[in-house]
Amino acid sequence: MKATISKRGFLQAVGAAVGVGAVYRSMQALGLVSTEVAHEVWADLPRGSGEGKSVAILGAGIAGMTAAYELSKAGYRCTILEAADRAGGRNLTARAGDVVGEVDGRQRVNFSEGDHLYANLGPARIPYHHGTILGYCKEFGVGLEVFTNDNRAALFHNRERFDGRPVSARRVITDIRGYIAELLAKAVDGTSLDSALTVEDKERLLQMLVQYGDLNADHLYKGTKRGGYRDGRLNAGLKAGELDDPLDFSDLLKSDFWEYKLHFDDFLDQNPTLLQPVGGMDTIAKAFEERVGSFVRYRSVVEEIRKSPKGVRIVYRSGLGGAVGTLDADFAICSIPAPVLKDIQNDFAPETKAAIESVAFAPAIKIAFQTRRRFWEEDHAIYGGISWTDQDITQIWYPPYGYHRDNGVIVGAYVWNKDIGLRFEGMSPEERLRVAIEEGERVHPGYAGEIEAGVSRAWGKVPFQKGAWPTGKEAPAALQRPDGAIYFAGDQASALPGWQEGAALAAHAAVAAINERVMGK
Ligand code: PHE
Repeated sequence: MKATISKRGFLQAVGAAVGVGAVYRSMQALGLVSTEVAHEVWADLPRGSGEGKSVAILGAGIAGMTAAYELSKAGYRCTILEAADRAGGRNLTARAGDVVGEVDGRQRVNFSEGDHLYANLGPARIPYHHGTILGYCKEFGVGLEVFTNDNRAALFHNRERFDGRPVSARRVITDIRGYIAELLAKAVDGTSLDSALTVEDKERLLQMLVQYGDLNADHLYKGTKRGGYRDGRLNAGLKAGELDDPLDFSDLLKSDFWEYKLHFDDFLDQNPTLLQPVGGMDTIAKAFEERVGSFVRYRSVVEEIRKSPKGVRIVYRSGLGGAVGTLDADFAICSIPAPVLKDIQNDFAPETKAAIESVAFAPAIKIAFQTRRRFWEEDHAIYGGISWTDQDITQIWYPPYGYHRDNGVIVGAYVWNKDIGLRFEGMSPEERLRVAIEEGERVHPGYAGEIEAGVSRAWGKVPFQKGAWPTGKEAPAALQRPDGAIYFAGDQASALPGWQEGAALAAHAAVAAINERVMGK
């Protein structure tokens, strides 16, 4: 017999029975939405499915708050234990007057007041295909704007090359492309590709290379106006400018530009379009906190994670030297970062303990400076984007917001290399700023004179974090399944380490698994 139920009728029936998330997945299965982008966008649990059940959530970062939000909507009683006095975890935006702490000291953020004067010291960019976190932005009304990685006016700098002077990304990219096109054209013009290509394809490839690399009639690369004009002139203006000589190919090859930096934007998670919340990344954390903040017990430091007849028992201390509390629940979702979790007493199985031990976190560093004027815009026509240098600071980020205002906040160092990270980590806050200014001066002469205030974040020294993100590509299997009634979440339980998307997805997975258990599936 032919099925008589229509697709829409079927979806309505599924929706009534199990919730919107299931409808969405059914739509995917039916080929009604693309599965490429939107897998597991929502973890909508059926309303009321968690009535009478309790969940202890460890950590009020993006993972913990995502879990609490979804579970509480379904009727679960959630309690979030958060060690710090704020929610958000690594989602942290620094503004005037804030105090940011590390294990051995505190820094006051001496920026001026201003909606454009902030620094995202944790996550700062959201790729267009991170549909879960973007979905929450949409649901919560968090305004988004474009975040810029790729800016052709930004700089590549290597102390050993091009007389130690920074060169524009525009020239580096067009010149390298031109040289490669020329070499390949030589191979096509010769005979070495004859067996690989038909005569027609060779002809087409040559035409392509001429356009791709801007080769001349002899198939040679002699520079291109795509790279700009002599004396740094960028547009032809009233009279056509003189072409700049191309950068020396051998110097380009000897530079470190092509080591990941040149194709940085081709990494799937760094592809344009990237986005950021208007006004600071913590807008997302705040939106979650508005919805689940009443479940959070702040300054509650977990000391023991135990399995109990009911499910779990968490022992925690409220405040420094404060009272000990216990929290009993049917389930726990633990998003405590592995470097912290490994030192908390627990009843985990040996495989779980080993998995937690195996996760290393990057000692990433960010340093942000307030400048008295936007010299990158005024002097270099750089609007957002990243300059790269072979010095320890590694990158300078120009703000993709607040264009043409009087002043601004730039990222003066962003480091994820372990050795360099540890070097900065070992310095006092003043020393970090001094080194970052000294190195920035080589990228932008006059830099030191522009800087008014600075703040640094060494994530390896942040209490209750002890690192920025897991360095492995895959989460250990033991963190993607429950140990008794304890589930794991956070980016460490995902294949997206270092992304809020990973945190939210892992939270969805934990929430869905708990709910399936409760519903006896
Ligand atoms: N998501 C962070 C960033 O974009 C950290 C990260 C860097 C993660 C590079 C993966 C790769 O800077």
